[in-house]
Amino acid sequence: MSTKAQLIILVSLLLLMRIPKRSEAEFEQWCVADEQTPDDELQAALDWACGKGGANCSKIQVNQPCYLPNTVKDHASYAFNNYYQKFKHKGASCYFNGGAMTIELDPSHSGCHFDFLP
Ligand SMILES: *[C@@H]1O[C@H](CO)[C@@H](O)[C@H](O)[C@H]1NC(C)=O
Repeated sequence: MSTKAQLIILVSLLLLMRIPKRSEAEFEQWCVADEQTPDDELQAALDWACGKGGANCSKIQVNQPCYLPNTVKDHASYAFNNYYQKFKHKGASCYFNGGAMTIELDPSHSGCHFDFLP
């Protein structure tokens, strides 16, 4: 094997070894409502999340930082994410009958913070 080939293999191995480390640190996911899901389905999932689901929905109540925009989709996104972050380590999934999806972009907006728990 030539020195150049050995070098290429060595560099490739080094790059491969870096990947798990990097993605572990950067693999942050939030759970939000899927835009394609009808509002009535999102509303039902939102009610469940804030009720039996155990999400803390205090921030989407009137006059709280995540009340606006006051849409079913935005409120469902907040509730889904709160539920998911709170219970993902206990096996909860970001599903909500197909009404939710994970994203890797922080959905927080002016004053409304979407938790991410490592
Ligand atoms: C819900 O969140 C609010 C604001 O972050 C906090 O003050 C409150 O104690 C929480 N309620 C529960 C039941 O965890």
